[in-house]
Formats: sequence, C-alpha cells, structure tokens
Amino acid sequence: TYIVKDECIKCKFMDCVEVCPVDCFYEGENMLVIHPDECIDCGVCEPECPVDAIVPDTEDDPDGKWLEINSKYAELWPVITVKKEPPDDREKYEDETGKFEKYFS
Ligand code: F3S
Repeated sequence: TYIVKDECIKCKFMDCVEVCPVDCFYEGENMLVIHPDECIDCGVCEPECPVDAIVPDTEDDPDGKWLEINSKYAELWPVITVKKEPPDDREKYEDETGKFEKYFS
C-alpha cells in the first residue's frame, strides 16, 4: 500500500484525490490519509503530490508509524473523492519539519 506522511500536513494540495481510481483518500483537518486496505497499489498518486508526501509503506516508514496513522484515521475521517481548494497559506509549510508534532489533528 501507499501511505501519506507528514509532508502533507498544512499543505494538502489534493492532486492525489483526482487521480485515485478507488477513492481511498480520507480527509482530516490538516492532512489526508490513504486507507491501506482499499489502496490497490497502482502508484498513480505518488508522482502527483508536489511535496512528495506519498510513499510506499515499504519505504521511509521503518517503525510503521505512518502506516498506523493512515490505517487509524482512514477509519475515522470522511472519504474525499473530489479535489477541493488547497489552503491559501500552504507554501509557508512546504519545507517545515516536525509538522506532525506541531499541527497534526
Ligand atoms: Fe497531501 Fe500531497 Fe495529496 S500534499 S493532499 S498527499 S497531493
């Protein structure tokens, strides 16, 4: 499966939503997650994200933290199937680190 990581937080470009063939993105206030049981591993969303927030769970998630977050919140948040306007101030957050600790909700 693919997962969304903290680069998405406060940026939320939502280009990923438009290309997902199985509508497996779920929307929280500050970020989106992928439902790992619904993702078919097609990979089309990965290059669409301008901040490289989407990765295969086999890469760059050694302790499984982000897989867990994606699994958990995909069950709690509503599905998003149509792209919305990204936040106006998204550019401010593009290069920020530690966004999970600061802003995740
Ligand atoms: Fe987030 Fe990237 Fe999608 S910033 S909303 S994962 S295009």
